[in-house]
Amino acid sequence: MKQSYEIEICLGSSCFSRGNREVVQVIRDYLRKNHLDDKVLLKGARCMDRCSEGPFLTINGKTFIQTTLTEIEKILDRELAEPGR
Ligand code: FES
Repeated sequence: MKQSYEIEICLGSSCFSRGNREVVQVIRDYLRKNHLDDKVLLKGARCMDRCSEGPFLTINGKTFIQTTLTEIEKILDRELAEPGR
């Protein structure tokens, strides 16, 4: 099946320690729980040069800054709800 989404999450040291260490786990669990593993390509990135705005990630090229653990599920619900939107 073609992957419809691409999530790129910064795992550089700044973003990792600011929260992406946990955020990446939440994303993995979310994809598994919602059977989205085959629709979403999850990529870890090195520093994406946005450290001061971290933790940083992109979903289909759309940027999300200072993402918290409480926000990430809502963001995923919204961004992954309708393929091709
Ligand atoms: S470590 Fe994430 S943008 Fe630099």
